[in-house]
Amino acid sequence: MFPLFLFISLINLPYCSSADRNDEPIIGVLAQEVFSPNPNQTAYIAASYVKFLEAAGARVVPVMINQTLEEYKTLFSFINGILYPGGGVSIISSGYRRAAQIFYELAIEANKRGDYFPVWGTCLGFEQLVYLTSGKSLLSHTNTSGVALPLNFTEEVKGSRMFEAFPPELMSALSSEPLTENSHQWSLATLTYYTNEELRSFYKVLSTNTDGNIEFVSTVEAHNYPVYGTQWHPEKNAFEWSRPYIPHSPSAVRTTFHMAEFFVSEARKNFHRFQSKEEENKALIYNFNPVYTGTTSAFEQIYLF
Ligand SMILES: *[C@@H]1O[C@H](CO)[C@@H](O)[C@H](O)[C@H]1NC(C)=O
Ligand SMILES: *[C@@H]1O[C@H](CO)[C@@H](O)[C@H](O)[C@H]1NC(C)=O
Ligand SMILES: *[C@@H]1O[C@H](CO)[C@@H](O)[C@H](O)[C@H]1NC(C)=O
Ligand SMILES: *[C@@H]1O[C@H](CO)[C@@H](O)[C@H](O)[C@H]1NC(C)=O
Repeated sequence: MFPLFLFISLINLPYCSSADRNDEPIIGVLAQEVFSPNPNQTAYIAASYVKFLEAAGARVVPVMINQTLEEYKTLFSFINGILYPGGGVSIISSGYRRAAQIFYELAIEANKRGDYFPVWGTCLGFEQLVYLTSGKSLLSHTNTSGVALPLNFTEEVKGSRMFEAFPPELMSALSSEPLTENSHQWSLATLTYYTNEELRSFYKVLSTNTDGNIEFVSTVEAHNYPVYGTQWHPEKNAFEWSRPYIPHSPSAVRTTFHMAEFFVSEARKNFHRFQSKEEENKALIYNFNPVYTGTTSAFEQIYLF
């Protein structure tokens, strides 16, 4: 009896771990309109978002704007999560907004069916999520363009998925040192969150900040969906250098990595896949070359499409 049992457990082992985890996650990063378009350069992705995900073990597919609904649905069935980057386009009328809404709705539907599909919004991406969840423009003007701040964690952080695996000393550094870079003029005021039923029932607030005048929500995770947002920029600490207020201390750089590690671990819970290796290769961002823009923009490198 014993040898047979051993034999069965040995042959089962590798299959158990691969059945509940996807170790080859591919994450979509949403493009957005460039500020001054020309015929060959209409949209971009800042390379720091790509590096952020790659550093934690994911590969990236660019999600272009202006695609058809059918194209987006097909791509959705191939990728394991999506990230909405920061930037400067409209959260109401841009191609970025249209694509973000389609993927948000597909993700909500999929998660309801038990198809775990994580969504992440950074800065503008966070503001986009707030707009999509509430269906309203609810942001307040704040004096927060270009400042690093410590996070003011709420009680909710204790039971959160996002910070569960963070080392205690990093949590303590995050709450006492200015490790989170803010580059936004619009924010979700804490007061607005508490008075909006859609937002309150969908998200829990994990941290807040203030510009000295208005207290705003700086980190959220959805109660019942793998939907996450930060008003601040976790990707910049390790990968952007062109602004003096971006923190690069060891704790700041570890923050980049732990945030990425969390989101990529969420994407490993999704099992969408491309229909063939060829289709996968054609879609990956490796087909594009980033260009150096550090001397003229806030990004060291960007992908132009
Ligand atoms: C756009 O790309 C085409 C083909 O690569 C090239 O011939 C053309 O000069 C480019 N136009 C601009 C404005 O860069
Ligand atoms: C998207 O579509 C709009 C309106 O049709 C157009 O002005 C814009 O150049 C397009 N952008 C891209 C990246 O295709
Ligand atoms: C905005 O905040 C900065 C500090 O980050 C401060 O120096 C400046 O005076 C503030 N401006 C206003 C209009 O409050
Ligand atoms: C942190 O948030 C709490 C709750 O809103 C507030 O009472 C406190 O003043 C905030 N602390 C800082 C340093 O902003």
